[in-house]
Formats: sequence, C-alpha cells, structure tokens
Amino acid sequence: MGRVFVFLLIIGFGFTSDVPFPENWKNMNFVEKGVILRGNPLYGIVPGFHKTFMNDTAYKHFKKHFTTFKQKGSPPPFPKGAEVVFVNFKDKEGKVPRIILIMYKTGKAEDEGGWKWEGFLMPDKKRIVKNPAKDCANCHYKGQKDWDGIFIPHAK
Ligand code: HEC
Repeated sequence: MGRVFVFLLIIGFGFTSDVPFPENWKNMNFVEKGVILRGNPLYGIVPGFHKTFMNDTAYKHFKKHFTTFKQKGSPPPFPKGAEVVFVNFKDKEGKVPRIILIMYKTGKAEDEGGWKWEGFLMPDKKRIVKNPAKDCANCHYKGQKDWDGIFIPHAK
C-alpha cells in the first residue's frame, strides 16, 4: 500500500513542470496587449483582455531583433533563460488575472521546442498544464517546425 502511494506521488510530480510562478509579472517588461474575441481558437482558454510580458533576457533579444519580429520574419531563437508571460484578465482594465501562461526557454531537447510550458489558474495559482505538447506546443508550432514558437503578433 505504502509503495503504491509513493509510486503515484512520483508519477504525479512527473507531470508537473518546475516553472515557478512569476511573482513579479507586474514589473516585467511589457510587450503587447490585446483582446481574444469569440471565434479565436484561444477563446476557450483565455477569452478577453490580455497583456504579454518578458523577463530581461527575453526582452533584450526581442529589442535586438525587433524589426524582424515586427515584419514577421525569422529572428534567431530566444536564448536560454528567456521567459515570456501571457496574462489573461477577467476585467477590461487588466487588474484581475484569470490565467497566467508561461514559456520558459531551456533549450533542452526534452522540452517542447526547447521551452517549458506552464499555466496558472488564478487566484489559487493552480497549475493547469498536464501535457505541454498537447495542451500548448501543438498550437504554437502548428505547421511551422522551424520557428521559435512565439507569436507576439502585434508587438509595439
Ligand atoms: C489554440 C492555440 C493555442 C494554444 C492551445 C495555446 N496557445 Fe499560447 N498563444 C497562442 C496565440 C495565437 C498567441 C498570441 C495571442 C495574442 O497575443 O493575441 C499565444 C500567446 C502565448 C504566449 C505569449 C507569447 C506569444 O507567443 O505571443 C505565451 C507565453 C503562451 N501563449 C503560452 C501558452 C501555454 C503555456 C499554453 C498551454 C497551456 C498555450 N499557450 C496554449 C495560441 C495558443
């Protein structure tokens, strides 16, 4: 009995990423904001208003290759340690977060696209990603295996 319990516990951890909750998301570098409307495939997960933020490592890369990003070209992949945080809000002013999605670059082959993928349901910070490939990366890499998996569609 005890053994079975320990086994299940290990399996449980195996499906949970170790991406920490980004406590400082409000102070990260703001990149873009937008509204996900009905009809958008993302509507089922993150309807309404959102803001996207980057940590300093990601932001430096983004700024350096800004023109290429803006023209939807093929900038080099984000460096290790880059973190991109997508905050979906319950309200239109961006005060009450509903879901916080994260991509964290490890560059490791075992992580989908070299990113760790995680999502937190607010306010409890409950982890929502069970299977990064199925839950997240499939859509981010749809049809394009040779890109870095980042959209940032209306970067400013
Ligand atoms: C149905 C397709 C789809 C799924 C599933 C999906 N995403 Fe996204 N994601 C997008 C699109 C499209 C954007 C850009 C949205 C925008 O800014 O308007 C985006 C944006 C993001 C961003 C901001 C960086 C960027 O690429 O613009 C992060 C971080 C992110 N998603 C993480 C995740 C995580 C983690 C999951 C899994 C829980 C996930 N996504 C599931 C399509 C998807």
